[in-house]
Formats: sequence, C-alpha cells, structure tokens
Amino acid sequence: MKEVNVLVTGAAGQIGYALLTRLASGETFGSDVKVNLNLVEVPQVVSRLEGSRMELEDCGFNTLGTVKNFSDMNEASGDVDWALLVGSIPRGITINGKKIEERADLLKINGGIFTEQGKALGENAKADAKILVVGNPANTNALIGCTHGNNESQTWMAMTALDANRAKAQVANKCNLEISDIKKMTIWGNHSPTMYPDLDNAEIKGESASGWINDQNWIESDFLRIVQQRGKAIIDARGASSATSAANAAIDTVKATLSETPEDDWFSAAVLSDGSYNVPEGLIFGFPLKADANGKVSISKIYQ
Ligand code: NAD
Ligand code: LMR
Repeated sequence: MKEVNVLVTGAAGQIGYALLTRLASGETFGSDVKVNLNLVEVPQVVSRLEGSRMELEDCGFNTLGTVKNFSDMNEASGDVDWALLVGSIPRGITINGKKIEERADLLKINGGIFTEQGKALGENAKADAKILVVGNPANTNALIGCTHGNNESQTWMAMTALDANRAKAQVANKCNLEISDIKKMTIWGNHSPTMYPDLDNAEIKGESASGWINDQNWIESDFLRIVQQRGKAIIDARGASSATSAANAAIDTVKATLSETPEDDWFSAAVLSDGSYNVPEGLIFGFPLKADANGKVSISKIYQ
C-alpha cells in the first residue's frame, strides 16, 4: 500500500476533531493509501491526543497507518507530505478583558506560532510538501510560515475553500440548483471581510453565474454580505467558530490537489502571488487554482 504522512496542528481542537477521521478513513487519500498521522498540540494538552489516537484506532479503518503525538514541531515535521496548520486561537474569545472581534486581531497572538512552524517544515518536511494554513488570520499566517520556511519547492496555501463552499451554497439556494452545477468559484484576496467571491467568472451550467442569477441587487447586497460575514454569523449562533465546515473545506483543498483539475473547473485557495492579475508578487492571495496530474498547483489564467 502507498503511504502519505500528514501532520495536523491543533489536533485536539474543534476543527482537528472533525478532521482526523476524514483524513484516516480513506475518503481523502483513497482506499489504497495508508495515512500516517503526526498530531501536534501545545504541551498543556498534548496528552488529550492520546484519546484521539484511541478513537482513530477504534474506527477500524484499513487505511489508518501510524498515529504519533507531538508537542515539538521539529520532531513532528520529518518527512511530512502534507501539513494542515490548524493550531491557533479562534476569534470570539475574550483575552485580558477584550473580546477578539476580527480575524486580523488574532495576528499578535497567532502570528508567532507560524514562525517556528514554518522553519520546522522548511527544514524537515518533504521537498514537495504541501502546507495548508487554516488558523487565522490565515493569509498572514501562511505568509509568515512560508517566509520562515524558506523552501521554494514546498507549496504554502491559506484556506479559502470554506468561503468558496459558502458562496456555492448561497447560489444553489437562491437558484434552486445542485452544488455541482456551480463551477469555477474564485475567492479573491484574503480570508477576511474584504474577500471577493466572484460570480462573474463562476459558471452555472457553462454560463457566467452572475448572468444566470440575473439579480445584481441580490449579488451586491445579500450574497456578498452573507459570504463575507458567514464566519461571524456562525460564531454568533454557535458560540464557537465553524469547525465541521472548516474541516470539510480543508479536506476539499487536499482532495483538489490529488488529481488533475477538470478542464471546466478550478478550486480556490490563497497562494504566493507570482504577479498574476497585477497582485503584488510575494503576497499570499486568493486565486483560482489548478492542479496538474502530479499535484503541482498553479494559478489559473482567466485573463492576463
Ligand atoms: P480550537 O480552539 O478548538 O482549537 C485550536 C487548537 O490549537 C487548540 O487545541 C490549541 O491547543 C491548539 N494550538 C494552539 N497553539 C498551538 C500551537 N502553537 N501548536 C499546536 N497547536 C496549537 O479552535 P478551532 O475551532 O479548531 O480553530 C482553529 C483555528 O482555525 C482558529 O484560528 C480559527 O479562527 C481558524 N479557522 C479558520 C477557518 C478558515 O476558513 N481559514 C475556518 C474556521 C476556523
Ligand atoms: C470562518 O470563516 O468561519 C473562520 O475564519 C472563523 C472566523 O473567525 O470567522
């Protein structure tokens, strides 16, 4: 059986809990691939990972390989194919009497995490490792990690698949469509309230989604607001930030790179800009992406 080595930080957290079975079950990497999991947590809660390890064992997946628990990123990063960097603090919590309202406010708390993690991955993970940052503020954390990783052959991404899934769900509800009818959904920019879910270049049954929807007022007011503010709406309703849908989007992002992207579609994540679409080089920015048959990720050229 083939093997894949997957590192997950924040593995004892909410997203981590929703993620692990889906990584191990064969759903993500296929029924012919053993998944070796390196689970990473802060020292204070690393012992909880033993519970996750026992649960994974008790699921009885043929595809589960080794499960190892770590609090040291250098030890955890060796030979890793994939790193899902979830471990960080969510907004909505109160620190020193101040409620953290925006994802950007998390930078002071979370940014430092990605300096050390980036270095560890750059030095120890495989040359062609893919690294998906989920922890907020995801784009900036990815930039910090990528800079300190300083390993050009590795691919760093910040997650915008959740925003793309949210956008597709809103359109499907509005137009009474199947999700699979909606393709080429791009989230331009940052996983923040300024993100831009693009219905002009998205397609419904081969036509521009904005033309198909034919309701500019809905697009400019309801649609944009709902997608841009969905994370906050979930925190307000649930009392905690999205976890199942975030884990699902991380799985979608991994899967999107495991086979060649179909001609009539692309996927959404933020990657290092190469200057495409006049986005300054070196920013981590949400683009339409394609993967080739070897899993190499590149920016789709809708126009030059
Ligand atoms: P959580 O608090 O339930 O879990 C976070 C876990 O990370 C905790 O177990 C904590 O101990 C661990 N952790 C903290 N620092 C760590 C470090 N240095 N190394 C390893 N582990 C560490 O939070 P959650 O709900 O799982 O959310 C995690 C992050 O994901 C938050 O920043 C949240 O805002 C973000 N998020 C992003 C998206 C997205 O679309 N990009 C969606 C949802 C949530
Ligand atoms: C989300 O979009 O659900 C996450 O980024 C969590 C948040 O803080 O909104």
